[in-house]
Amino acid sequence: NKVWVIIPAAGVGARMQADRPKQYLPLLGKTVIEHTLDCFLSHPAVTGIVVAVSRGDPFWAELMATTLNQYSQLHTAPGGRERSDSVLNALNYLVDTLQIAPETGVLVHDAARPCLSRTDLDKLLAIGGNQTAGAILATPVRDTMKRAQVDATRISHTEDRNGLWHALTPQMANVGLLRTALAAAWEKGVVVTDEASALEHAGLHPVLVEGDARNLKITRPADLALATFFLSATP
Ligand code: CTP
Ligand code: MG
Repeated sequence: NKVWVIIPAAGVGARMQADRPKQYLPLLGKTVIEHTLDCFLSHPAVTGIVVAVSRGDPFWAELMATTLNQYSQLHTAPGGRERSDSVLNALNYLVDTLQIAPETGVLVHDAARPCLSRTDLDKLLAIGGNQTAGAILATPVRDTMKRAQVDATRISHTEDRNGLWHALTPQMANVGLLRTALAAAWEKGVVVTDEASALEHAGLHPVLVEGDARNLKITRPADLALATFFLSATP
C-alpha cells in the first residue's frame, strides 16, 4: 500500500520572527525542512513527495539544487494564500499533472514538524490504510482547558478536557476524497486549518491515532530549542 506525501511549506513564519521562513532555519547541521523530509525520503511505502512552496522561493531552489538534488521522488507545487490552498494546489498537481489515481493514499505533513518519528508514521500508515474516512496523528489534551469570556480577560468556565485532542500531522486520506473535500470547503468559504476539518465538513469522521507529543510544530522561537533537544536525545 504505497502512498504519496504532501508537505505544505509556503508559509512565512510570522510568529517565529526570524530572517527567513522557519522551515529554512538551521537545526542540527541542516534546515528544518530537510529533517521533516528525512522520515519520508527513507520510507519504503512512500512513492513520492510534493512540496508546496511560495513562487520563486530562493531557499527551496537552493536546497533542490544542492542537498536534495539526488531525490527524484521530490516534486514542487505552487503554494497558496492559506495552508489549505497550498495543500489543494499540491493535490491538483498529483491528479492533473502526475495523473495519480484518486484512490491512492496521501499523507499531509507540515514542513515545520521536523520531529515526526518512524514509529508514529508506521502507526498512522497501518491504521489509516484501512480507513475510508481518513486518520490523523493526535495527542490528548493534558492541561485544564478554560473558556474565556468574550473580552478574553476573565474565565467564563472550565471546558471538559475529556475527549479533547490536539490535531497533529501527518493527516491521511485518499487523494480524490481529500481533494473533493478541500475544494468544497473552499467553494463554501469555510476556513479549514487542517485536512481533517475539510473531511468533517464533508460529513466524515477521521480516526484519531494517538501520537507522540514531541512531534511539535515549530511556531515560536523557543520551539527550535525543543526540536533540537528531541532530535538529539536518544528515543
Ligand atoms: N503553510 C503553507 N501555505 C500557507 C501557509 C502555511 O504551505 N499559505 C505551511 C507552513 O509552511 C507550515 C504549515 O503550513 O509548514 C503550518 O503552518 P504554520 O505553522 O501556520 O506556518 P506559517 O504560516 O509559516 O507561520 P505563521 O502562521 O506564524 O506565519
Ligand atoms: Mg500560519
